[in-house]
Amino acid sequence: MTASRRPRAFARLCAPLALLIAFFACLPVVAYETKPFEDHDPKLDVDFTPTPMDAVRRMLDMAGVGPDDYVVDLGSGDGRILLTAATEYGVERALGVEIDPWLVDYAADKATAAGVAQRVRFVHADLFETDFFDADVLTMYLLPELNLRLRPLILSQMKPGTRIVSHSFDMGEWTPDAKDHVHLRDVYLWIVPARVGGRWRLEREGLAPVDLEFEQRFQRVTARASANGQALDTGAVELDGAEISFRVDGRRYHGHVDTDTIRPLEGADWSARRLRR
Ligand SMILES: C[S@@+](CC[C@H](N)C(=O)[O-])C[C@H]1O[C@@H](n2cnc3c(N)ncnc32)[C@H](O)[C@@H]1O
Repeated sequence: MTASRRPRAFARLCAPLALLIAFFACLPVVAYETKPFEDHDPKLDVDFTPTPMDAVRRMLDMAGVGPDDYVVDLGSGDGRILLTAATEYGVERALGVEIDPWLVDYAADKATAAGVAQRVRFVHADLFETDFFDADVLTMYLLPELNLRLRPLILSQMKPGTRIVSHSFDMGEWTPDAKDHVHLRDVYLWIVPARVGGRWRLEREGLAPVDLEFEQRFQRVTARASANGQALDTGAVELDGAEISFRVDGRRYHGHVDTDTIRPLEGADWSARRLRR
């Protein structure tokens, strides 16, 4: 071995040792970086991926969000949907439900920095164990199976007329009331329909009472009607949140569903009450 080749051989010999030393030197740092996540160990049903800002605005536009709306984001991530709702749409009350505490703190800090911390709250909670049912607008970017798990809760617990907007994923057989695309991303809107299925009695001034049967599948409703045992003509039923419009015997009835009664919005000579669900 020549003198000039000796340092190279030494370096080759030392390289694995240097790597080993470097590895152990880094170990505490690596452990420190990962520890907070191990500690939190949030049971995520879906990973954090933010909705692009143009899709955020399209969601809020489609829902017609305004200052009077109480907006809830299920799985609120970095808080961008609600922060945009507060800073650009004037929303006064919003709740973000997020299972990852690190993201909860991050979003809350952003709310403070934007001066909207009094209006937008982020809570560390599992969305499936949270009461979000009084929201006027519900936003979500979850997964198809999570939307399907939420669907019966939304339909049975949320008030008619609530707007639901979802980025990317639909609600299975519950067809959206509107759908849009933002750069290949789908955005869906549903209006929670009043629960009208069942038997009703339609009272009309000066006419025989009508037995009315509504069959409901989400927002789609069909009607059958009879008076004095005689079938009556019915037309298409339109249901938009709590507002219903139906036709019996050539006349259109337009009203507001209040659980078990229908209050006329046009004409004062009729009313309807539910006999059974
Ligand atoms: C795809 S990200 C959407 C974030 C934000 N909504 C957006 O659109 O930018 C889904 C979020 O849901 C949160 N998450 C997952 N499972 C959850 C659960 N069971 N309860 C609450 N949040 C959850 C994740 O941590 C993540 O931040």
